[in-house]
Amino acid sequence: MIVGGFYGDEGKGKIASYLALKDSANLMVRGGVGPNAGHSVYWKGKTYKMRMLPSGFVNPECRLLIGPGVLLDPNIFLKEVTDLGAEHRAGVDPQCAIIEADHIERDRGSDYLKKKIATTGTGCGPCNVDRVARIAKLAKDVPQLKRYIVDVPLETNTAIDDGKNVILEGTQGTFLSLFHGTYPYVTSKDVTAGSIAADVGVGPKKIDDVLIVFKAYVTRVGGGPLAGEITEAEAAEKGWAEVATVTGRSRRAAPFDLNLAKRAVMLNGATQIAITKLDTVFPECENAKNFNDLSREAATFIEKIENSLKTPVTLLGIGPSVEEVIDRRKEL
Ligand code: IMP
Ligand code: MG
Repeated sequence: MIVGGFYGDEGKGKIASYLALKDSANLMVRGGVGPNAGHSVYWKGKTYKMRMLPSGFVNPECRLLIGPGVLLDPNIFLKEVTDLGAEHRAGVDPQCAIIEADHIERDRGSDYLKKKIATTGTGCGPCNVDRVARIAKLAKDVPQLKRYIVDVPLETNTAIDDGKNVILEGTQGTFLSLFHGTYPYVTSKDVTAGSIAADVGVGPKKIDDVLIVFKAYVTRVGGGPLAGEITEAEAAEKGWAEVATVTGRSRRAAPFDLNLAKRAVMLNGATQIAITKLDTVFPECENAKNFNDLSREAATFIEKIENSLKTPVTLLGIGPSVEEVIDRRKEL
């Protein structure tokens, strides 16, 4: 399982697509909230911004499923499937709740959601409200989705029992969780490891590893506290200025936060850590092939994280493209 450790946008999409290729994943299953997520994947010179389908699409052998806990926007899903030519390998659970035009209007038309919380405006919050009110439409009721409907928990558990390689892809980040985040500046659901498992219908004892993804600095979009926040000008100077995948807003930025990371490891029961964008903070590392090639400063940064969090840092992102990863899983 892959989860986000900060406020989303940690680089989960890149790590998920790397693992789908490297570990020859048979199945990747999306958990998390819905199309409020935007996973950027740079692959073979092209940029993909995935909002519904799992980032494992880069491996043509990988099945791409969406768990029942996830909210489905049929327009976005069908466009992604068509754009990728993934008709033969995409599947949606019949119980995914459906985002309709009215949900998007309620999200964008509410001063509270739009101005105060500064949501992504994708209809996720209002759709989860209707889901809890037991009035939401489900995927099984949408004719255009008929050919994609599969029992995702059954297919996922069967694949695990048959010894296949299965990756569960979480979205958002730990501190956007409705339960554990900076309420009310949070998303409309819990997004920690326990909930990602529930989203796809896999029991906790079947998860071998929880890989938590942190970026080498922290970003957040929308409202809410951000400890150590720097100004936009400072972020630009450091090369940390980012633009949000879904909304195009500027992301707020802060240095890596060890206390936040420690709590995220606890809340998710993380067994491994991935650090992305190491090359953005330590540009001298961009051509490193393994850990020994890192500068002293970068190596010290990683060692400090491992020592404080008592969890191995197994994957290091050193460039935007899917394959630009230092993989230490065999050494650690
Ligand atoms: P909502 O999930 O659209 O309701 O937005 C609630 C809060 O979560 C806002 O601060 C959003 O910016 C944030 N958020 C939701 N999904 C993501 C994501 O995938 N990446 C980063 N921020 C997100
Ligand atoms: Mg994102």
